[in-house]
Amino acid sequence: MNKPKNLCRVCNSIIQNIFDFGEMPIANNLMLMDNETYIKNEYKYNMKIGVCINCSSLQIINVPKKELMFNDRYAYFASESKFMKNHFTKLGSKLMKLMNKEKDYILEIGCNDGIFLKSFADNNYKHVGIDASENVVEAAKNDKINAICKFFDEKTSLEILHSYGKAKFVVITNTMHHIENCQSVAKGIETLLDEDGILVIEDPYLLDMYKIGSIEQVYAEHNFIWSLHSYKTLFEKYSIKLFDVEHFDTHGGSMRYFFSKKNLKETNIMQKYINLELNNKIFDINTFIKFQKNCKKICKELYNFVVSKSKEGKIIAGYGATAKSATTLNYSNIDQNLISCIYDSTPFKIDKFTPGSHIQIRDAKLLSKDNPDYTILFAWNHKNEIIEKEKKSKTIWVEYIPELKLTYEN
Ligand code: TYD
Ligand code: ZN
Repeated sequence: MNKPKNLCRVCNSIIQNIFDFGEMPIANNLMLMDNETYIKNEYKYNMKIGVCINCSSLQIINVPKKELMFNDRYAYFASESKFMKNHFTKLGSKLMKLMNKEKDYILEIGCNDGIFLKSFADNNYKHVGIDASENVVEAAKNDKINAICKFFDEKTSLEILHSYGKAKFVVITNTMHHIENCQSVAKGIETLLDEDGILVIEDPYLLDMYKIGSIEQVYAEHNFIWSLHSYKTLFEKYSIKLFDVEHFDTHGGSMRYFFSKKNLKETNIMQKYINLELNNKIFDINTFIKFQKNCKKICKELYNFVVSKSKEGKIIAGYGATAKSATTLNYSNIDQNLISCIYDSTPFKIDKFTPGSHIQIRDAKLLSKDNPDYTILFAWNHKNEIIEKEKKSKTIWVEYIPELKLTYEN
């Protein structure tokens, strides 16, 4: 019997496998302790990445159960970055100006610790935040945000409709790419979005990932990397049309997408990116094979660097216990034998251990005291904010995306 083919979750075409990572942990599953029992019980899955050349969607083929990724131990608190806080506050100010305070409400899917909805709560705008991880929802509630702990899908959309009616805005930032059942989310939005409402989505952008070779954007949680073409394919099925986009440098290159149920004229900037995707051959498998080779080269370069410096007796640390780095570390076999610790400012992460690689996380305040010989910037997407914050440190920073580079030698 032929092996069943894997089908695209967006358009149901056959997916082509481009990357086999082998056994990988859940990227945000930090370990409490680095002992045998914990290591033995650590959940691993065989991570495979595929691409659909019919709709240009890049996706994890075998996504672990969602409860394994989103739960009361979710380690990502979005408000840790002041820059991102400011980024989303700006979006909030724009949307608040378009809202009727009496009538309208805004729904955020994946509200995390309330990084975006905070300004709506502070200014008494009607809002609802929904997120599947209890601990981040608790943080949002403590900040006076109207947050519910649930997975968003068709069924939840009916409950929200019943309680709040149709939404003027539905906003999903850095979350849509987490959701395996994207059809159910799109259907839920069709139910909830007002006829003249706007859907705003923002997440890491396929062409940027391709350009800088950041395969580590993919891990159990970042289950999709979207493009204009793949989002259009998904939402058009539910009569929701993409009409505008805005590009940002955040998280290594992100796209903000604007959709409406109305037939709004597509903007020039949207046309520009549609053409850019076509010119970059996102419907050609060779594009993704080239990308895969580049990513492997990046991982190899980092591994060789770490091994050679370690042999010289140098202390090598990391900065930013990012979920992304779980892909690179585990794929490259870089673990606690090679890296002394990873500095991070998130209280929830400090003193825990990275998944799979079991590297201890230390309070970021200690970097300028410890001054390791080299510090790998795992949170490369927050480079300016971190380098500025840590300018007292004597360490040599190591970047590895898009290529290995030593900077800020003191
Ligand atoms: P991020 O790259 O935003 O996400 P992901 O985990 O999805 O890959 O994670 C950034 C990490 O870096 C997060 O754990 C917080 C930490 N961080 C600091 O320790 N100091 C800082 O100044 C900033 C901006 C982030
Ligand atoms: Zn597809």
